[in-house]
Amino acid sequence: MSSSDMKIITVIGSGLIGRSWAMVFVSGGYSVKIYDNQPGESAKAVVEIGKQLEELQEAKMLRGQLTATQQLALLSGHDELAEALQGAFFVQECVFEQLEVKQSVFRDIERLVGEDVVLSSSTSCLVPSKVFSTVQNRSRCLVSHPVNPPYYVKLVELVPHPETAAAVVDTAHSLMTKVGQAPVRLAKEIDGFALNRVQAAVIAESWRLVQDGVISVKDIDLVMSEGLGMRYAFIGPMETMHLNAPAGDEPAGPQRAAAPVGPGGEAGPAPHGPGQAEEGPRGSRIKSSE
Ligand SMILES: NC(=O)c1ccc[n+]([C@@H]2O[C@H](COP(=O)([O-])OP(=O)(O)OC[C@H]3O[C@@H](n4cnc5c(N)ncnc54)[C@H](O)[C@@H]3O)[C@@H](O)[C@H]2O)c1
Repeated sequence: MSSSDMKIITVIGSGLIGRSWAMVFVSGGYSVKIYDNQPGESAKAVVEIGKQLEELQEAKMLRGQLTATQQLALLSGHDELAEALQGAFFVQECVFEQLEVKQSVFRDIERLVGEDVVLSSSTSCLVPSKVFSTVQNRSRCLVSHPVNPPYYVKLVELVPHPETAAAVVDTAHSLMTKVGQAPVRLAKEIDGFALNRVQAAVIAESWRLVQDGVISVKDIDLVMSEGLGMRYAFIGPMETMHLNAPAGDEPAGPQRAAAPVGPGGEAGPAPHGPGQAEEGPRGSRIKSSE
């Protein structure tokens, strides 16, 4: 597919995430066709998006190089799936988070598009091998999981099906980069993807500390909002560890992060617990984690 063919994106489902994706894609200069199976819903979405684009422009928060009017002109609403898919090189599905609904939507889409059209799902927690199990050509399928609201939170997790072609992930990565998102690649599918796994570890350890009577609910929230959260808005855990590199022959990397954390050197939380990157008995393990 030449780059001149890569101008139209179809968004399936005109709810919260479908609208937000449409705004992100038009901000990057793509033509976007929104489809919803509820008649009239996609037209309503176009009107609503038009209002939001104007408000963002007024507040000087509009993304991209085009004006609100120019961006709105790139958008159209459709009640017919075949019409909405006409000319698209990339399809972003945003329907209800129900496996059977998504499977049926992708079955219908595959009948109507060419072999090289990328089929991408916004699913939050269904793995690609389930979402795309009824698609014949799964090499063009992947999950592009946004974080709500995608217009403001730029992370997109790109999660391949075991059969996804590397070039398809590359296409999604360059599209997301071009429209100003921050894509990350997962090498393989896993429950929770990356963001929700990290989030689950933080939540689990927070619960444990509260349950064990170590800290109050209010204070564990402050640990994040006034401490770790501030840092992690700028640098990730790996960069934090890198900046606190060990001296001499101290173990580095995962070995160091997995070292015991208790005052007597006893084992810390579960092997993959977030607390392991915290300051340990030597006091110098992760200096900036205090
Ligand atoms: N809301 C979030 O915070 C969030 C964040 C990341 C990912 N997601 C994922 O994005 C997807 C959409 O979520 P949402 O919050 O926008 O849902 P939503 O309920 O706001 O919108 C879903 C839309 O899909 C339409 N729809 C349902 N079945 C359809 C079909 N067969 N064909 C066409 N359209 C159909 C509905 O009419 C509705 O307009 C879900 O998979 C969700 O897990 C949501």
